[in-house]
Amino acid sequence: MNVYEAVRSRRSVRGFLGQPVPAAALTRVISAALRAPSGGNLQPWRVYLLSGSPLEDLKSRVRHRIAAGDRGDPPPVRPYPAALPAIYAERLADMGQRRYGAVGVARDDDEGRARVRARNWECFGAPTALFCYLDEGMLAPQWMDAGIFLQSVMLLLRAEGLDSCPQIAWAEYHRTVAEVIRPPDGHVLACGMSIGYADPREPGPPMPRAPLPEIVTFLDG
Ligand SMILES: Cc1cc2nc3c(=O)[nH]c(=O)nc-3n(C[C@H](O)[C@H](O)[C@H](O)COP(=O)(O)O)c2cc1C
Repeated sequence: MNVYEAVRSRRSVRGFLGQPVPAAALTRVISAALRAPSGGNLQPWRVYLLSGSPLEDLKSRVRHRIAAGDRGDPPPVRPYPAALPAIYAERLADMGQRRYGAVGVARDDDEGRARVRARNWECFGAPTALFCYLDEGMLAPQWMDAGIFLQSVMLLLRAEGLDSCPQIAWAEYHRTVAEVIRPPDGHVLACGMSIGYADPREPGPPMPRAPLPEIVTFLDG
């Protein structure tokens, strides 16, 4: 698989087969992704990979919290700015419509949406999950580094026939994630990611992208 194929075939998969992820493939992917660039070569990411009983333990703890009506922890970082400029607010709304519409959940069906969202904390059935932490003192450039690392992981997973879903949703239960993972003090959960083999019965809605001229300006002499 070449890089274009990896980029084009990567999507956020929200339905996985239970088939385990081979440990050797995971090691190959993470080892190669550690080649990701970072400003000053800080390599600010701290990565945890959970499968088997630690992942079951985590899922079960969050499941119990949700069943008890617990709406989660105050997020360490807001997922979006409070005042989202209109163009981004429109894209966010469009994404929600496609995602929930694809599973027949209406815009005003809060309970249905919560039920679909809760699949996040079941890893959408994936047998493996990655959690990426950063030192809480890190700044925007290091968060960008972490994003580059995570995209490297997602593309390399494609080369192994594996799929993924990056999940900021795990930050909503970051205290429970920390209970299981026990990251070093002063570290903040930047992102989770479900990893596994896509369930072909759950293709998910294709998410469009803005056309190139809307995003890119070529300044040429
Ligand atoms: C940093 C980050 C966090 C995300 N968090 C979630 C999440 O918590 N749950 C989820 O289902 N998708 C999540 N996504 C997936 C986005 O919704 C998805 O990337 C976007 O809609 C484009 O779709 P695609 O990835 O299928 O191309 C996240 C993506 C990124 C990059």
